[in-house]
Amino acid sequence: MSGIFSYGKITDEIIDELKGKIGTNNVCADEEKLESYSRDEVPQSAYDREYRAALLVFPESTEHVSEVMKTASRERIPVTPRGAGTGLSGGALPAFGGIVMSFEKMNRILELDEANLTITTEPGVVTAEISRMAARHGLLYAGDPCSGDASFIGGNIAENAGGNKVIKYGATGAQLLALEVVLADGSVCWFGGKRRKDVTGLDFVHLMAGSEGVLAIITKAILRLMPAPRHSVDLLAAFPDAESAVAFVPQIIKEGGLIPASVEFIDRKALRLVASYLNTEIPAGDAGAALIIQLEENDAELLEREFEEIGKLSQSHGAYEVYVADTRGAKERIWQARKNVPEAVSAIYKRYTKEDLVVPTADVPALLELLNDTARSEGLECVAYGHVGDGNMHCTIISPECGDWHERLRAAQLRIYEKLVGMGGTLSGEHGIGYKRREYMKYFLDEAQLELIRRVKLAFDPQNILNPGKLVEWGE
Ligand code: LAC
Ligand code: ZN
Repeated sequence: MSGIFSYGKITDEIIDELKGKIGTNNVCADEEKLESYSRDEVPQSAYDREYRAALLVFPESTEHVSEVMKTASRERIPVTPRGAGTGLSGGALPAFGGIVMSFEKMNRILELDEANLTITTEPGVVTAEISRMAARHGLLYAGDPCSGDASFIGGNIAENAGGNKVIKYGATGAQLLALEVVLADGSVCWFGGKRRKDVTGLDFVHLMAGSEGVLAIITKAILRLMPAPRHSVDLLAAFPDAESAVAFVPQIIKEGGLIPASVEFIDRKALRLVASYLNTEIPAGDAGAALIIQLEENDAELLEREFEEIGKLSQSHGAYEVYVADTRGAKERIWQARKNVPEAVSAIYKRYTKEDLVVPTADVPALLELLNDTARSEGLECVAYGHVGDGNMHCTIISPECGDWHERLRAAQLRIYEKLVGMGGTLSGEHGIGYKRREYMKYFLDEAQLELIRRVKLAFDPQNILNPGKLVEWGE
């Protein structure tokens, strides 16, 4: 599959050269480690074979990254940047072997600038640490992926991770002000700065968001912060069925006249799965479907009026019970249930496809209908949950244990994708194309756009050494 590109091999000389440049402790060819650093959260069953790095490097500085890239570009060795390995599209899979570059040692928050409301960080910082650091200063970092307790900020930027607060604050890219990057040839440059406006040149900062490590390697990021809202509540509205829950979502904004920080959806099956996985009762655990609606305000009385109004509104649209979580413990219970759905699915089922589909927000009811109808007609089942407030649903199609499960899942996916295009939807909202979805991009993007992606890729990385096999379709 290497097609028009050919790659050099890792030799003992190259290993010695890299050890000399970045330190013996930061270069590793141990078999067990190579194996564990050669995958992310996508199960092996999604791929035709195993992929394995030939060498791991653990840079401690931008200079280390630059030195590795100088060697890699001279020798045409593929380099796959890796965050915490929480990815859901195979973005960190070393599809052509070569070097996996782990950022776990570049894990410092470098500055919190209260006057400019920015935080400057290395790529290997765990996302939740950034949020905690901001919170200690009364500030909010608004990126909130479900994997935030484990994922690295560099990976969040590379995937333009979304999560639970996109409806109000946007995805990771919307928090980005600037990036220091190392280019394929080892040169270092800054895109953007602490400034809030910038039309000098092209917007490379936001081109990098979601570029999956194929254009340049992120070595520092400046992220925007904002004053943290003083009060918040989570409402958990229990509905008799999925249809009435998703039909209510647009009314929160239209009739309620406010934009919540989160609107999340969990269907009947997901509620049962997560309760069984956590082995505990969860709020609204017996509902037909549930919505989590998070509201924030600085004024406690205003917040109370708002949550009472949204609670009543939800009941007038079919919710039969509304729980109000205003204590830390109650909020944690609700979010623990929501955040554990993907793990519950992986733990309980062997054969599934975790989708990351997006439709225009008002079309979520039609998306759910499409999924359920298609799954049923292929003899499959569907679990649906996700970020209903921004139209991004993680619909998981589950296959029974049978010989042709792979074919059945694929047939269902193709039927869904075809109809999704007609609905103005797309393949991935926040998990990325990576290795897992590459073959499906052509159903969503026309040839002119795919060709533009190839040309942008080659402008940054003429030898295709940066995370090859991801995002870009060469027509192999
Ligand atoms: C979530 C992950 C799967 O939203 O994106 O739970
Ligand atoms: Zn998600």
